[in-house]
Amino acid sequence: MSEKKVTVDDVMKAKSWGRKIVMITSYDFPTAQLADKSGVDIVLVGDSASMVVLGNKNTIPITMEEMLIFSRAAARGVDRALVVADMPFMSYNVRREKAIENAMRFVKESGVDAVKLEGGLSVQSTVEAIVQAGVPVMGHIGMTPQTASLWSGYRIQGRTVSSAKKVIEDAHSLEQAGVFSMVLELVTEEVARIVTQETKLPTIGIGSGPYCDGQVLVLHDVLGLYDKLSPRFVKRYANLSETIQKALESYGDDVVSGRFTDHEHTFHMDE
Ligand code: KIV
Repeated sequence: MSEKKVTVDDVMKAKSWGRKIVMITSYDFPTAQLADKSGVDIVLVGDSASMVVLGNKNTIPITMEEMLIFSRAAARGVDRALVVADMPFMSYNVRREKAIENAMRFVKESGVDAVKLEGGLSVQSTVEAIVQAGVPVMGHIGMTPQTASLWSGYRIQGRTVSSAKKVIEDAHSLEQAGVFSMVLELVTEEVARIVTQETKLPTIGIGSGPYCDGQVLVLHDVLGLYDKLSPRFVKRYANLSETIQKALESYGDDVVSGRFTDHEHTFHMDE
């Protein structure tokens, strides 16, 4: 998108340029550095960290303090990409003032550029208040994992007319609230296409087909580092679990056999 620091404005303009937006999650300094160097447009410090880093069953348990730690580490690794932090469950859904305060904590204490929160019509006034307070917001509609894990589980959205209408209504609510882009998660290709055509804002899809203005995946899925869930929409580009496993087994074998440590890796007294 740009050699220079990617801004919220650049992301919004990408749609009119017809340039697809690349977003990937990261939760730490080294992978954020690698993602930035690879040229992605947006690094998302997703609350998927709850599962892929902390080993929880879903995204509900992760806290503000944990998300701030991950966000700070990732933001330190990024020079160019836009960095967006996920607001965790309960950080924006209880009181409006608290939501504004928490959004501001992300930009002030962790140095990210924007926040993301889940929901459409139901969070419209909260999103509006955060944007009014000066913090750019990315929306997230379709299947929203924080509440989906409490109700129906992870289900495709937009299969029926009423479900399609709900996704489209949510997209319009977010556009009115002032988000700069929105994630469409697990939305049928047909509905994702309508939303993408109807809104001026870029849509970033995950499991929502090719018509979105950009795509996002979870880093651990792309790299083959998390195999508890393997949804059909994920494309795996590496098998790091196998690589790491083999490296650690070799290290163990070397220690047990005495091949490590050796002359090359040992220090000696002066003559
Ligand atoms: O938490 C996350 O990783 C996300 C993406 C799946 C969009 O919200």
